Amino acid sequence: MKNTVLTFQEAKVKGEKLSMLTAYDYSTAKLMDETGVNSILVGDSLGNVMLGYEDTISVTMEDMIHHGAAVARGAKNALVIIDMPFMSYQTSVYDAVVNAGRLMKEGRANAVKLEGGREVCDKIEAIVAAGIPVCAHLGLTPQSINAFGGFKVQGKSEAAAKKLIEDAKLVEKAGAFAVVLECVPAKLAELVTKSIGIPTIGIGAGNGCDGQVLVYADALAMFSDFRPKFVKSFANVGDIMREAFKAYDAEVKAGTFPAEEHTYKIADDVLEKLY
Ligand code: KIV
Repeated sequence: MKNTVLTFQEAKVKGEKLSMLTAYDYSTAKLMDETGVNSILVGDSLGNVMLGYEDTISVTMEDMIHHGAAVARGAKNALVIIDMPFMSYQTSVYDAVVNAGRLMKEGRANAVKLEGGREVCDKIEAIVAAGIPVCAHLGLTPQSINAFGGFKVQGKSEAAAKKLIEDAKLVEKAGAFAVVLECVPAKLAELVTKSIGIPTIGIGAGNGCDGQVLVYADALAMFSDFRPKFVKSFANVGDIMREAFKAYDAEVKAGTFPAEEHTYKIADDVLEKLY
């Protein structure tokens, strides 16, 4: 059954938890989609995980469309959300609608995600009015990393916590169907979750959110450039890959791969004529 924005709304009403993982390619999305995960986020974290950038700033619309379309081809059941990259929506309402439209038309997104609170509400309203569901993103918003001065937990002071709660209410009012809460204290995330009628999806925001999201390469211990406290590795795929690559290298160099069963045959009489 295809997950939709209605699945998200119903889960909130019924108190059922929502699961979301990032993916950036067809094969991973297909494997993920078979598991019952509610949503696949084509995060602009692809800048770090797939492209080796140190942040998400340089990720382009073309990157998001290219990876998003691959994920969409692999995801039959999960709701596919594609991130709007830095400067694809901040510049104007017009740019926001045009670029959200491209992510849906060319990337085949079911929804888009953008970062920010009150300052992007006019964009959320316009994108939603164009028929494109929007997931908001509050707390540590990586596209503002230079403004934050680094990857820091957000909402710790009274003023910052109050602003976060207000922003959550504002993005809901603007029409967002869900909101990601990244790197905020668990008790604050719980309070936000109780204060709004749309699902909160936490990452580094504790267990009181309506759902959780993780970067899949973190969940599988494949990405080791940095490892936030909130990451849990559900499998050590990084080690498995390293071992497999080592074994391949050793077999090729020893001449034991490819073996008989990996080779194609030619008829002896044809072969004889070649000498
Ligand atoms: O880009 C991303 O992967 C994200 C998640 C961390 C929420 O925005």
